[in-house]
Amino acid sequence: LTPPDLAGERILVTAGPTREEVDPVRYVSNHSSGKMGYAIARAAWRRGAEVVLVSGPTCLPDPWGIGVVRVESAMEMRDAVMAELPASTVVVKAAAVADYRPTTRSAAKIKKRTDSLSLDLEKNPDILAEVGRMKGDRVVVGFAAETGELLENARIKLTEKNVDLMVANDVSLEGAGFNVETNIAKLLFRDGTVEELSLMTKGAMADLILDRVAALRQKQSRQ
Ligand code: PMT
Repeated sequence: LTPPDLAGERILVTAGPTREEVDPVRYVSNHSSGKMGYAIARAAWRRGAEVVLVSGPTCLPDPWGIGVVRVESAMEMRDAVMAELPASTVVVKAAAVADYRPTTRSAAKIKKRTDSLSLDLEKNPDILAEVGRMKGDRVVVGFAAETGELLENARIKLTEKNVDLMVANDVSLEGAGFNVETNIAKLLFRDGTVEELSLMTKGAMADLILDRVAALRQKQSRQ
């Protein structure tokens, strides 16, 4: 049985994909199932934390005991995160936020009249970077989904988004990343330390990440 070592913490977790609507029947999205983020939310609740889960569209049921805010788009996720941020002591951003959204949403279904069709996209706000700018004494954990140059890319995100811990997963590896029960990751810390995790269930990885979060919170309280 895990001890309630996160009692007193309010942990804000994001999970799942976002959907960026093109027209009433189509959207731009990605393969995130929400499993990684939900595993973190469940583990944090089991360890005594108050948990708020901001979730993009998933097929997963609301975890017991946890307040779930359901959103669709990156803009909605941003608003939900910003509303929950002030009262939170820890933020874990496992969601796969769409980096771009269609510049315009067609009110009517786009008709199949031409042989090719271009979609104009504009950048979504980077929610994690915004959280990083407002970090204060919170512990902030980001995820980096990469298909190459894992450490280099994750290190850049760690610095640019001002997070304490970056969970870097190479989503091209079998058993890692989107829509599977397991993950493989490297944990990058601000002091340059890298911890290599082997293949494990997302539940086991959630607990491991929360062990590191608990240690970071303890270190903060001693300072
Ligand atoms: O949901 P599953 O099927 O279980 O899959 C798990 C996962 C692969 C989605 C998860 O392990 C993961 O890697 N999540 C992050 C995916 C991602 O968007 O990575 P990124 O490298 O593009 O973004 C880096 C970080 O910035 C992430 O914490 C992301 O939430 C955040 N971000 C990105 C873009 C944006 N506009 N706003 C953000 O907050």
